[in-house]
Amino acid sequence: THQWRGIIEEYRDRLPVSDSTPVVTLREGGTPLVPAQVLSERTGCEVHLKVEGANPTGSFKDRGMTMAITRAKEEGAQAVICASTGNTSASAAAYAVRAGMVCAVLVPQGKIALGKMGQALVHGAKILQVDGNFDDCLTLARGLSDNYPVALVNSVNPVRIEGQKTAAFEIVDMLGDAPDIHVLPVGNAGNITAYWKGYTEYAADGVATRTPRMWGFQASGSAPIVRGEVVKDPSTIATAIRIGNPASWQYALAARDESGGAIDEVTDREILRAYRLLAAQEGVFVEPASAASVAGLLKAAEQGKVDPGQRIVCTVTGNGLKDPDWAVAGAPQPVTVPVDAAAAAERLGLA
Ligand code: F0G
Repeated sequence: THQWRGIIEEYRDRLPVSDSTPVVTLREGGTPLVPAQVLSERTGCEVHLKVEGANPTGSFKDRGMTMAITRAKEEGAQAVICASTGNTSASAAAYAVRAGMVCAVLVPQGKIALGKMGQALVHGAKILQVDGNFDDCLTLARGLSDNYPVALVNSVNPVRIEGQKTAAFEIVDMLGDAPDIHVLPVGNAGNITAYWKGYTEYAADGVATRTPRMWGFQASGSAPIVRGEVVKDPSTIATAIRIGNPASWQYALAARDESGGAIDEVTDREILRAYRLLAAQEGVFVEPASAASVAGLLKAAEQGKVDPGQRIVCTVTGNGLKDPDWAVAGAPQPVTVPVDAAAAAERLGLA
């Protein structure tokens, strides 16, 4: 009876639903806000991680998807479609199962992590690998939803943003007020848009006394907002944010400017360093794209841009199990031992 009910029931009065809306949920949200000891020491700040990999399908997309599929169901849709770098498709596929809908997904060929592909497959989605990048997939998905009986559930659908803004509510509810700075990775720029909407709504209603500065980080090879121009052939090991023409670009700029924040870039090397630090020193296993937020915070701290004593929240957007290749790559192979305590103890350095 005390289970978290999912974001629609928990924040019903702040979301576009009515009493008769058929809620489609996997009880998403209510994710851990974890104090980050090592990051706090490094920055001289009070750093927390919002661990969105703890959502039902392993990423923050579930917050938006419960809203998108619920509203599609309410409107009588029988099929949904999305373009995705992997997490949106995994989430859409799972929620479509709950709603009894057909789910079609368009993914960039060869550029989505195996775990995410496995999710879409096992949930029974119809998958097309597109000979192009995410931006091409989104163009195709928009065209199909305009001309065929299929509802678009990408974050260009405004109810996705409504669902995702609840993460900001949870942070304020937990901390008692908004943090000084909120840091997150930026790909298609829906999430930074959603957090900013959540924070500003809470501040407008007096639930929070202020809004945080919004800091977004793109991967260097896929940093159109930082460069101020579309990136034709985006590249990065963080495939989730391998995006050259973000749909919510203008909203991301608004979040940055209205909050007094910044959007900067981090290299793949910096992303991997943060990825390993999170796992090895904070005990939090995320996927590479998620580590862009922490990489960005560390970069800003090294540049002297982080005044000590601030309260900072970093969103880590997806679970490390989605893309375990990077955990295994470069790590030493485990040694094999016989069923022998003395041999095992020796190998473990206990003897
Ligand atoms: N982190 C992860 C793990 C993601 O999957 C995404 C986006 C982002 C960050 C960036 O969020 O697009 O709102 O700026 N993934 C989308 C997808 C594009 O298809 O799963 P954003």
